[in-house]
Amino acid sequence: MQHLQKLVIEAIETSQFPETPTNLYDPIRYILTLGGKRVRPVLTLMAAELFGMQEMEQIIPAAKAVEFFHNFSLIHDDLMDQAPLRRGKTTVHEKWDANIAILSGDGLLVKAYEEISKCNPVYLPATLRILSKVAMEVCEGQQLDMDYESRGSLLMDDYLEMIRLKTSVLLGGALQLGAILSGANEQQQQLIYDFGENVGLAFQLQDDILDAYGDPDTFGKIVGGDIIINKKTFLLVKLMEVIAPEDVPMMQHLLHATVEAVPTKVEDMLKLYDKYQVRKSADELKDVYTQRAFEKMSALDVPNERKEALLLLANNLLVRQQ
Ligand code: IPE
Ligand code: IPE
Ligand code: MG
Ligand code: MG
Ligand code: MG
Repeated sequence: MQHLQKLVIEAIETSQFPETPTNLYDPIRYILTLGGKRVRPVLTLMAAELFGMQEMEQIIPAAKAVEFFHNFSLIHDDLMDQAPLRRGKTTVHEKWDANIAILSGDGLLVKAYEEISKCNPVYLPATLRILSKVAMEVCEGQQLDMDYESRGSLLMDDYLEMIRLKTSVLLGGALQLGAILSGANEQQQQLIYDFGENVGLAFQLQDDILDAYGDPDTFGKIVGGDIIINKKTFLLVKLMEVIAPEDVPMMQHLLHATVEAVPTKVEDMLKLYDKYQVRKSADELKDVYTQRAFEKMSALDVPNERKEALLLLANNLLVRQQ
């Protein structure tokens, strides 16, 4: 896994982009060298290995495409979420401006397609189809995420479908791309995709937990950022589900307050989260999805020892602190 991670980091960080216009390419260079876990491109390489592929250089373009796409989505996501911090550094729209964030994000999306076009031509139609399907679903999930912010209430099932689209499909797709490029059949592709989707659901639940409970020194984003903008996270949706009538006015007061007007907004909301133990519910649901992911992996028709690295990675992601 560490070997694959090294390969991926090197491939991404040595990518060359033109010097000018600097306001187009500097933000692209900036976001790509800020670090990040590089989970998705590593998943692409690991899936290829799982299905017996040994020439990793054949898979690198797809891995880069996935990470480029992810970084494009982060630039735009931070603009949409008004987030000042990403990977411990100033976000693109804050460091430059919104227009620059829009265009450099778009540029990175184009670069993702340029990368995928370099993969084995035999599999090009299939890889293009999967990348495009997943990319459009991420946009659908992002739009739902934005639409839900201003909604007074949200069903848990709608929340779960929203995070499946905005986050999980890309983890599934990253794995499926690796499977396609190593010649896996459609049934095996589906199983590894489903493994990724379930890991992805648990991954976004952990993301929601960290946004409220992360350690500001290591998290790399603003802790409490979701609470500040009334993002419909698992924690908030669950709270709305279980809250007792006597606490509803307090919750409504906080949802209508800006942090400027009520500086204790985040800590007061955390008190409600704690009172109703919504973090515990999130952890329990994470376990459910992890279990489902592991069932999908069990059904895969490859030797067990080859599955170990992916199972370990999935486990690590669920307890990640950043
Ligand atoms: C952040 O993804 C966006 C989500 C889908 C939660 P990561 O947590 O993988 O971010 P980086 O790439 O490691 O910074
Ligand atoms: C991630 O959702 C979805 C995408 C980036 C497409 P978040 O908005 O929760 O991601 P973070 O927490 O900002 O990384
Ligand atoms: Mg978002
Ligand atoms: Mg965000
Ligand atoms: Mg988040």
